[in-house]
Amino acid sequence: MGKIKFLQCRECKKEYPPTFKYVCDECFGPLDVHYDFPTVSKNTFSNREHTYWRYYELLPIESKSNIVSIGAGMTPLIKAENLGEKLGLNNLYIKNDSVNPTFSFKDRPAGVAVSKAKEFGLSAVGCASTGNLASATAAHAAKGGFPCYIFAPSDIERPKITQALSYGANFIAVDGTYDDANRIAAQIGDSKGIGIVNINMRSYYVEGSKTLAFEVAEQLDWKVPDQLIVPVGSGAMLNAICKGFEELVSLSLINKVSDMHMIAAQPHGCAPIVNAFKRHLSEITPVESPDTIAKSLAIGDPGDGQYVLRRLKQYNGHAEESNNKEILDAIILLAKTEGIFTEPAGGVSVAVLKKMVDEGKIDKNDCTICYVTGNGLKATEVIMEVLSKPQTMQQADIAKISAMVR
Ligand SMILES: Cc1ncc(COP(=O)(O)O)c(C=O)c1O
Ligand SMILES: [Zn+2]
Repeated sequence: MGKIKFLQCRECKKEYPPTFKYVCDECFGPLDVHYDFPTVSKNTFSNREHTYWRYYELLPIESKSNIVSIGAGMTPLIKAENLGEKLGLNNLYIKNDSVNPTFSFKDRPAGVAVSKAKEFGLSAVGCASTGNLASATAAHAAKGGFPCYIFAPSDIERPKITQALSYGANFIAVDGTYDDANRIAAQIGDSKGIGIVNINMRSYYVEGSKTLAFEVAEQLDWKVPDQLIVPVGSGAMLNAICKGFEELVSLSLINKVSDMHMIAAQPHGCAPIVNAFKRHLSEITPVESPDTIAKSLAIGDPGDGQYVLRRLKQYNGHAEESNNKEILDAIILLAKTEGIFTEPAGGVSVAVLKKMVDEGKIDKNDCTICYVTGNGLKATEVIMEVLSKPQTMQQADIAKISAMVR
């Protein structure tokens, strides 16, 4: 037997062998990976490679020979002193996941899922995407030698389409929302038996995002933060971060996580989880037509939405939204203070952080982690709208140019 003990239904707790399966036969609940972890200590990881595969023992791949890696993970945890000073926070950190190989955190779940597809001997992979997962899946597919099929709304940012096409993916641009693309991807995945990383491989896929908890804990010298601000679309990442911290407790690598606060950040125009949280509901009402510049978070019917609500309850959390102007202001604020250029999803995190500080919901001495999950170069068009375009100067106009420099 390997390190995976079984897959277990999150709802009725029925157990299944760890096969190419993702939904419970009894109640249609999602299946989670449960492990028989080998013995590990803090030292196990300390001198390893600077990728998330340093946590190999805690990831759902049974043979190292199946790992498909493009070097993702172990991204910087920056002590944000300048932004902290502006906001009045003494202990603010940015987890800068925008510097992954395909420039978003999605390299974590996609890399684990494509590795698992190799372990299962699947013939092809794919995904339903709001943009970033497209490139993450396509790049790992290229490295692993898989054909790749992307299903995404046709209106996502052009750089994200260009990037995925460059890795050789087949790009199916769907005339509709992410939820429409997701439905088609699920149908094709089932009928063709290919690994759709975030649908029929979701149980394994989400395990990759746990490493966002492992890395933060290790980078804080195995301390647990007080506040974590996470941008939320489907909710898979927020859930996975919670699972990651809980596994570290079960391995005695950290003490306890019960004092940790999870904060879900969503854009106004697609904030179904925030809406439910603020009305104290346990069910999500889907947003039919998302309307936000944070296209990577434009998931109207979040697959893990109700589980995010449970996590927020469990971790004394909060959910907040930010509008387009607040998102763009936050992108510029982060860039100007910390030299980190993020796409709107990261702007949503920073804007929500600022709002929570303004409302007195974060203590100035709290160890606060703000997850910045995607790169600004993927969404330059919308960011350029709030910047003043440089004026082209005649080379001969040296006096005028000189006057511009004070
Ligand atoms: C940059 C970025 N941040 C956050 C998210 C949200 O992740 P999740 O759908 O797991 O909630 C996404 C999803 O596509 C994303 O691309
Ligand atoms: Zn079940």
